[in-house]
Amino acid sequence: MKSSSQLTPLFHVLIIVVVSSSPLWVSAFPHEHQNFLHCLPEHSSKSYPISKVVYTPINSSYSSVLNFSIRNFRFSKPETPKPLLIITPSHVSHIQAAVICSKSHGLQIRTRSGGHDYEGLSYVAYRPFIIVDLINIRSISVDIVNNTAWVESGATLGELYYRIGEKSRTLAFPAGICPTVGVGGHFSGGGYGFLLRKYGLAADNVIDAYLVDANGMAHDRESMGEDLFWAIRGGGGGSFGIVVAWKVKLVPVPALVTICSTIKNLEGDAVKVIHQWQYVANKLHEDIFLGIVLTGGNTSTQGGIKKPTATFYSLFLGKVDELVATLSTTFPEFGLIKKDCLEVRWIESTLIIASGVFQTVESLKPLLNRTPSTIDSTKIKSDYIKKPIPKAAIEGIWQRLKAGDIEAPQLVFVPYGARMSQISESETPFSHRAGYLYKIGYMVGWKGQNLKAKNRHISWTRELYEYMTPFVSKSPRTAYVNYRDLDIGSNNKYGKTSYKQASIWGLKYFGNNFKRLVYVKNKVDPHDFFRHEQSIPTL
Ligand SMILES: Cc1cc2nc3c(=O)[nH]c(=O)nc-3n(C[C@H](O)[C@H](O)[C@H](O)COP(=O)(O)OP(=O)(O)OC[C@H]3O[C@@H](n4cnc5c(N)ncnc54)[C@H](O)[C@@H]3O)c2cc1C
Ligand SMILES: *[C@@H]1O[C@H](CO)[C@@H](O)[C@H](O)[C@H]1NC(C)=O
Ligand SMILES: *[C@@H]1O[C@H](CO)[C@@H](O)[C@H](O)[C@H]1NC(C)=O
Ligand SMILES: *[C@@H]1O[C@H](CO)[C@@H](O)[C@H](O)[C@H]1NC(C)=O
Ligand SMILES: *[C@@H]1O[C@H](CO)[C@@H](O)[C@H](O)[C@H]1NC(C)=O
Repeated sequence: MKSSSQLTPLFHVLIIVVVSSSPLWVSAFPHEHQNFLHCLPEHSSKSYPISKVVYTPINSSYSSVLNFSIRNFRFSKPETPKPLLIITPSHVSHIQAAVICSKSHGLQIRTRSGGHDYEGLSYVAYRPFIIVDLINIRSISVDIVNNTAWVESGATLGELYYRIGEKSRTLAFPAGICPTVGVGGHFSGGGYGFLLRKYGLAADNVIDAYLVDANGMAHDRESMGEDLFWAIRGGGGGSFGIVVAWKVKLVPVPALVTICSTIKNLEGDAVKVIHQWQYVANKLHEDIFLGIVLTGGNTSTQGGIKKPTATFYSLFLGKVDELVATLSTTFPEFGLIKKDCLEVRWIESTLIIASGVFQTVESLKPLLNRTPSTIDSTKIKSDYIKKPIPKAAIEGIWQRLKAGDIEAPQLVFVPYGARMSQISESETPFSHRAGYLYKIGYMVGWKGQNLKAKNRHISWTRELYEYMTPFVSKSPRTAYVNYRDLDIGSNNKYGKTSYKQASIWGLKYFGNNFKRLVYVKNKVDPHDFFRHEQSIPTL
């Protein structure tokens, strides 16, 4: 699909057009929603006819447009609720019309950028709804004079990295690891990657934004006000409006960086090294990221080894010799060797790390590919660690990773410290800062949509999460909103989630910032138009 939007038309004044005839595409739509279809062209620009970007279920492209950005097979079943229609805006007035008309006709909107929401919240709802799919709102303009970029929400991280890399070898952006993740949802929930210890989260580096609010009004930072601008940088997607574009600060990196991948297994000394890592990783120099991915199950063949393995990934903003020398004194137990490392451009490092295959790349073009190689069913949960966990707990994790009937479990250990500890808890809604040693993401993936397989894999994740209770953060047990998990707290699929219900996950995701998020929500969307199972509630 081609990107037909430009950054400049976003700032055009909304032109009101009145269309009186009944277009063909309206006729086959459910009778009670016909007025909604008539409403759309009345509120969008005449120069960009909205009828060209509306897909009702009778349109032969409806399912492929719906499927194109579904990233969790769990929510792609015939019985999964489907939208009344999908709008793929090519102009900001289409987004405004979608909001104004959905609001006046009692429909819900789910906004989709990259479609990676782990609970499918960007494309599944249990009340009559439409999808605003930002696939065509994805221009990127990189300004290497001022070291900034405007990036539209429908762009992927890979597209953003590629466009930065095209213009500069020494500029980067600190966002996520998987290139197919969408900017819209990712920035909304924080967004971390291998540069977090040096530069914080993606949301920490947003300096302006362009948003359509619950009244269909478009705002930049100045006109939306600092409260709303604060809330959209980590308060989670789908609560405050539709963010159309973000202005970000680009960050400096050396012309060559070092990346390394070191595999350890139980027959080696993985448990001991992981245990020791907890004391070291968060205290390393800010230029060093050293994270761990544990894999297991019956399909894991990380590095050709089919048993639980621990892969240590590092990114160093400098030369390999310096990294090896530094780690040999600060973390001798790890035993990093030069042959596990590559010196590459930052832009190459993003692709190599994402592909998991540690070799130099011929072309950067795969960063532009929006479709992952496989779409599995997945479930995720997350935890934060304040005190090193005992060796026995690491062994407990290891035992669980051996489960023969679990396909692709993966635990990701992300070290904090450095820049993450310097940013105050209330600077953005993302409150997990000083005092956290690292984060754990528990992910499990499986093929197909079989109910038994689903139950087995979800139970495995829940049991592991239960097992980890004594070792992780408490009161509240904190979690990462971009690792969306509907298990935490009850949620009301069909109606409004109460403040009390919401505060269970609200405090886990946002700590004390939850209260300010509710305050902002009351101010900017008092009728709770932008709503999903874990959206910020009104009072
Ligand atoms: C394979 C995979 C790898 C991942 N890797 C990382 C990683 O390395 N680091 C990390 O931090 N996270 C990672 N994530 C999590 C990811 O950051 C979140 O799932 C993120 O919300 C996805 O954004 P999206 O636009 O792709 O998703 P979507 O499903 O489109 O959106 C997610 C949520 O945000 C809302 N939303 C989307 N666009 C907008 C918008 N423009 N305005 C307002 N609300 C919006 C949606 O309605 C939904 O509630 C990963 C997820 C997956 C599936
Ligand atoms: C499907 O929708 C698109 C976009 O609105 C439109 O261009 C196309 O003509 C429609 N196709 C059919 C078969 O209705
Ligand atoms: C969309 O996905 C569903 C479920 O996987 C599948 O049944 C359907 O054929 C797909 N449709 C298209 C057009 O790809
Ligand atoms: C850089 O910033 C200045 C001042 O805000 C602005 O005038 C200019 O257009 C920006 N971009 C470039 C490429 O100079
Ligand atoms: C893994 O286990 C599941 C469930 O027992 C099974 O369906 C699948 O075929 C197994 N996969 C492999 C590669 O052994």
